Amino acid sequence: MIDFDLTEEHRLLEQTVKEWAGREVAPRIKTLDREHRFDRGLVPQMAALGLLGVSVPAEYGGAGMDYVSLGVASEELEYVDTSLRVILSVHVGLNCLSLLTWGTEAQKQQYLVPQAKGEKLATFALTEPSAGSDARGIKSTAVKQGDHYLLNGEKMWISLADVCDHVLVIAWSDLEKMRQRDTSGLSAFFVERAFKGFSSGTLTEKWGILAGNTGYLKFDNVQVPAENLVGREGEGFKIAMFALDQGRFTVAAGATGLIKACRDASVKYALERETFGVPIGEHQLVKEMIARMEADYQSTRLLWLRAGWLKNIGRRNTRETGLAKWMATIASERAAGDAVQIHGANGYSDEYPVGRFYRNCKGAVIYEGTREIHTIMQADYLLGYRSDRPTRCELPPYAPQP
Ligand code: CAA
Repeated sequence: MIDFDLTEEHRLLEQTVKEWAGREVAPRIKTLDREHRFDRGLVPQMAALGLLGVSVPAEYGGAGMDYVSLGVASEELEYVDTSLRVILSVHVGLNCLSLLTWGTEAQKQQYLVPQAKGEKLATFALTEPSAGSDARGIKSTAVKQGDHYLLNGEKMWISLADVCDHVLVIAWSDLEKMRQRDTSGLSAFFVERAFKGFSSGTLTEKWGILAGNTGYLKFDNVQVPAENLVGREGEGFKIAMFALDQGRFTVAAGATGLIKACRDASVKYALERETFGVPIGEHQLVKEMIARMEADYQSTRLLWLRAGWLKNIGRRNTRETGLAKWMATIASERAAGDAVQIHGANGYSDEYPVGRFYRNCKGAVIYEGTREIHTIMQADYLLGYRSDRPTRCELPPYAPQP
């Protein structure tokens, strides 16, 4: 039987995140955004709510909730501000769930447990100054030398770069395959900020998600212990694509939350603001924009819910997750543009939140697979140029916790 209802547990989580973000962040977000300030103090609060290990089993320090819960939390966090959802995307989606699936027991004990408890903050690093969409075009190298890999290179546009403790890094371990652009020469490594030769910085010129930290990482002869190789040598590209299946899921759910925020702000304003002697909500063209937001919200929510359900049952969901991410992010751009339009000149001022929504939504149309990459991927599945057969390395199916 198909069931469209959230469970009691999901509803409780939704309510908890809504109340926390509404109470602790919403009243201050305008200031944080204006001051380009990432508030590190929010991280322990999110940890206390179990969010930093939301879909990580309890045996590894997590809250032991299912993968749909990760979406529920992402939607409610981005309802208040994108920067909050980004923390979940990189820490839980891209990093913790990759470690849960690909890590050794020792790596899980050493890194996943403190991360899921929120004692350590983690991110993921694939993108480089000269390679974004063309993921196999990266140049970072990690050459084996005895009991360690010597890591060199630079990563760019990394969320939480300057505030994280751990990073899952993708680099070439086979230089001959690097020259041939053969992805089986890429490997994944767990790197600590404390390792000698690791440095980071914050990008200060970005114009959206200003309350979030985005930066670069530099690896200058970093000695990564051989036991910090994640998966086997040569599995780095698959691990990166797997990580993105989870990251994109949080982006889809988050963008859905942003559409809801645009809808709610627009409804409120349309009932308050009058033109031509009536509330602007009585004008048909305003109604049309609001109705479109509702249609986009309801349909993108179904798309990410389906992807979350597939994750719960351990089935490959690259295609469904990609579709959810693509549709939700482009719809959020439309919703934010229309929300500004409904607010008129006031929408062009930071006095109202919709201008922030407009600046924040654009990033997600670009990161974790641009609109164009996702368009091509969906067409390629249909045309038979791309396969979505099982990879035998899906997320562990959700098992209800005792
Ligand atoms: N799971 C497991 N394996 C996968 C997979 C998945 N989801 N997707 C692909 N693979 C496997 C393929 O099966 C293939 O293996 P085989 O040869 O054995 O069949 C191998 O990986 C190569 O896959 P592709 O042929 O699809 O490789 P491609 O070069 O054509 O990839 C692409 C093209 C899909 C566009 C890919 O490059 C891509 O997704 N680009 C966008 C990258 C992106 O989203 N970057 C954002 C990074 S986020 C970040 O770094 C910043 C931050 O803040 C954290």
